Amino acid sequence: MKNHTMEDLVSLCKRRGFIFQSNEIYGGLQGLYDYGPLGVELKNNLKKSWWKSMIYERDDIEGIDSSILTNPLVLKYSGHEDTFTDPLVDCKSCGERFRADQVPDYCKKEDLTEPRQFNLMFKTNVGPVEDNNSFAYLRPETAQNIFTNFKNVLDSAPHPLPFGIAQMGKAFRNEITPRNFIFRVREFEQMELEFFVKPGEDEEWHKKWTDLRLQWWEDQGVMRDNIELYHVPSDELAHYSKATVDIMYKYPHGLEELEGIANRTDFDLGSHTKGQKELNISAKVAENTQSNAKLAVQDLETKEWVVPYVIEPSAGVDRGFLAILNEAYKVESLKDDKERTVLALKPHLAPIKVAVIPLKRNEKSIVQQSIDLKNKLQRLIEGRVLLENTGNIGKNYRKHDEIGTPACITVDFQTLDDNTVTIRDRDTMEQKRINLDEVISFLRDNYSI
Ligand code: GLY
Repeated sequence: MKNHTMEDLVSLCKRRGFIFQSNEIYGGLQGLYDYGPLGVELKNNLKKSWWKSMIYERDDIEGIDSSILTNPLVLKYSGHEDTFTDPLVDCKSCGERFRADQVPDYCKKEDLTEPRQFNLMFKTNVGPVEDNNSFAYLRPETAQNIFTNFKNVLDSAPHPLPFGIAQMGKAFRNEITPRNFIFRVREFEQMELEFFVKPGEDEEWHKKWTDLRLQWWEDQGVMRDNIELYHVPSDELAHYSKATVDIMYKYPHGLEELEGIANRTDFDLGSHTKGQKELNISAKVAENTQSNAKLAVQDLETKEWVVPYVIEPSAGVDRGFLAILNEAYKVESLKDDKERTVLALKPHLAPIKVAVIPLKRNEKSIVQQSIDLKNKLQRLIEGRVLLENTGNIGKNYRKHDEIGTPACITVDFQTLDDNTVTIRDRDTMEQKRINLDEVISFLRDNYSI
């Protein structure tokens, strides 16, 4: 098996319709990408898998989907207006700007300005008047509207501690130097859980969630050998965090964060709550004079109000996509000096679950059988089933290897006689002949689809 590079992944993504540079026909816009016909399927499958593991397989987590445009007060009290910054330097020689820790070798130290802090949040005007009082931020993390909805969720779906609120969706950061394909971008998606626990139980839950998240990534096909845990040192912690463990993945460009699991203490609810003085908040929070909601829970025995601590597993969808693609991408040597590219995706993530291929494109009865089979499978399978009516069976198999389709079903002349089809397995390339009636159970047993 050959090693591959980021360029190999970028090339596959473009060629097969996983990911395109955004606004490419006008020269693009840096740090933005579009997901194509196959990319959107894989990305949605990844998000579905996360949602299933967070919401459907547990009874102690609720989901929400909040707005992207955010009232500036939320990001004032969250600390983002003051602290969500990166150090920026200008190079007087080439005239470009860089994040202070990402200056390229060709810039000389003496040409660089002193670093100054640059806020990463995007602002936009709201309403018809363009002035400094009518703006909103594009959210820099999905977490904040989980905190601002804490009371709404609890009032409508009561839970004792510990319980969680999860959300996935877009977030925006005006990165000084976006780079490494979809790894560091200005518009991206997050999958975030805020898990509320009793103060004192936070460290135990931090450890539990780290283990759960490692297992989940393994279930998505990310090998444990390619992951390292990074216990973030105190001088690198985000302003809200008491402790953070980063799940670091060996990307083609180096070891980088795939997901961070932070112990945010009572900082967030403590920052956004009204009546701070009556609550026993342990984090250092700015005085809040504008919130109209008490973000605390009452201990039913002691009757005391408690501001819960928060454990936050925060994963990047795009970073997850890249890790999964990197794990799945393989170039295999075949007989006669030939090779094939195969995307060995877990079936639940594959963009196309099954391809139905008529052996002969112009043979009406074979094509009709294929259409009928495709329609039947599509009714029963969650995810896309594709009728691949483009002739040349060999080329079709290569294409579906390369895009990760777990199984290809070929309808041929024998099908017309005895109702059997062949099923070809992506990974072994082996073919089996089975009856049409057995197709669904075969797919369920072998691919869980
Ligand atoms: N909510 C954590 C982050 O966006 O990094």
